[in-house]
Amino acid sequence: MKTQKLLLKNSSLWQWILFSFVLAGLTGFLFRLGFLTPLPFELSLANIRQAHSHLMFFGWGGLFPLYFISIVIMPGYHAALSSRMIRYSLWVVLAFTLLSFPTFLLWGYQLVPIGGANLPISAILSAGVMIGWYMFFASFLAIRRKKKEIDSNIWFEGALLMLFVSSLGAWAVGVVQIFGIGPEFLEKLLPNFFLTTYTEGWILLALLGFVIKMLDIKEADLLVSSKILVFCIAIGAPMSFPFGMPALLSNPMQSLFARIGSFLVSTSVLLFVASIIKSGKLKHSLWKWPIAFLCLKGLMQFVATFLFYDPILTNHGTRILYLHVLFLGAYTSAVSIIYASYITNLKRYLNPIFYSVVLVLFSLLLLSWFWPLSLIGTWIYDALAIAALGPVLTVTALWIKLRTRTT
Ligand code: HEM
Repeated sequence: MKTQKLLLKNSSLWQWILFSFVLAGLTGFLFRLGFLTPLPFELSLANIRQAHSHLMFFGWGGLFPLYFISIVIMPGYHAALSSRMIRYSLWVVLAFTLLSFPTFLLWGYQLVPIGGANLPISAILSAGVMIGWYMFFASFLAIRRKKKEIDSNIWFEGALLMLFVSSLGAWAVGVVQIFGIGPEFLEKLLPNFFLTTYTEGWILLALLGFVIKMLDIKEADLLVSSKILVFCIAIGAPMSFPFGMPALLSNPMQSLFARIGSFLVSTSVLLFVASIIKSGKLKHSLWKWPIAFLCLKGLMQFVATFLFYDPILTNHGTRILYLHVLFLGAYTSAVSIIYASYITNLKRYLNPIFYSVVLVLFSLLLLSWFWPLSLIGTWIYDALAIAALGPVLTVTALWIKLRTRTT
C-alpha cells in the first residue's frame, strides 16, 4: 500500500510513539521489580502503575491511531492549515503525555504543593492531552467537510467519536471533583466510564480499522455490515463500564445494562474475526497473530457477559490479563506489523515480538483467577519480572532496525 510509505517519513513522531511504548514497558518491569527488591526514591507501586498505564494509554495506545489517521486516511493534505493543526495536535498529545509521566511516577494523583497552592499536578497535565484531541477533531472535521474525496472510513470515524465521548467522561470527573457535586460514587463511576469508552470504543475500533485498511478487507468480506458492527461497539462500549466497578454489578438493572453492552461489543468482535478468517486474507499473513488475540479478547468478554460468578469478575489479576490481551496482544502486535511493513525481513523482527507478548500474557495468567492456588509460589514474581522485559527488548530491536531501514 503506497500510503503506508508515508508513515515513517518527515516526522520523528513515530519514534516518540515507540519511545512511549519502551519507557512505559520499562515502568511495567519496574513495577514487577518492586515485588523482588526495594525500589529507589521510595517509589510507590501504585504510582508506578499509574505512570505505566497513562503512558501506554495515551502515548502508545491513543497516539498511534491519531498518527495513522492523519497520514494514511487523510494523505496529501499537508499544505492545508487544518492539516498543519492536525500535526500540532499530535505533538500536544505527546507533550502532555510525557510531561505527566514523571509526575505520576513521583506523586500519582496526590495534591502537590506548588507556589503556595496544593495542585493535582498529574491530573492537570494528563488532562492537557485533551487539548490535542480537540485540535485533532476540529481539523479532522474541517478537512472532512472540504475534501469530500478523502477516505470516509467508518471504523476510524466511529473510533474518533468514541474518543470524543470518552473525553466528556474525563471532563465530568474534573467538574465533580472540583465542585464536589453529585453523589460520592460518581467520582468512581465517571473514570470508569472514561476508561471503558476509551478502551472498548476508541482503541478497539481503531484496531479494527487497522485490520480493514491493512488487509484491504471489502464490505462484501464482512458477515455483517460494517455500519452494524461499528454501531454495536459504539453503543456497547460506554454501556459496559460497570464491569470495571464490580460493586455495580450487584444491582440487577446496572448489571443488565452492562451485560447488554458487553454482549454487543463481544459479539461484534467475534463476528469481525469470523469475517476476516472467512475472507481468506489471513493465509500466510502475520495478521493471524493480532486476529488470534482479538478472538481471545472477544471470547473472554463474551463469557464474562454471562458470568454471575463474582470471584472471576472481581479478580484484579484476571482484569489485568484481559486488558493486556487487548492492549499488548491484539493492539501491540497489530501496530508492530504496521511499523514492520517498511522492512524486508520483517518476520525476523516480528516473531520475537509475538513470542515475547505471549510470554507476558502467560505470566499474567499466573496471577489470574485461572491459576490453581496450589501452584502459587514466590517464583511467580521472578517469572513476571523476566517476562515483562521481553516486549521492551523486541520492540526496541524493531525500532533500531527501522531507524536504519533497508526496504
Ligand atoms: C511491555 C509490555 C507491558 C508490560 C510489561 C506491562 C506491565 C503491567 C503491569 C506490571 C501492570 C500492573 C499490574 C497490577 O496491577 O497487578 C500493568 C497495568 C496496566 N497496563 Fe500494562 N504492561 C504492558 C503493556 C501494556 C500496554 C501495551 C498497555 C496499553 C496500551 C497497558 C496498559 C495497562 C493498564 C491500563 C494497566 C492498569 C490497569 C489497572 O490499574 O487496573 N499495558 N501493566
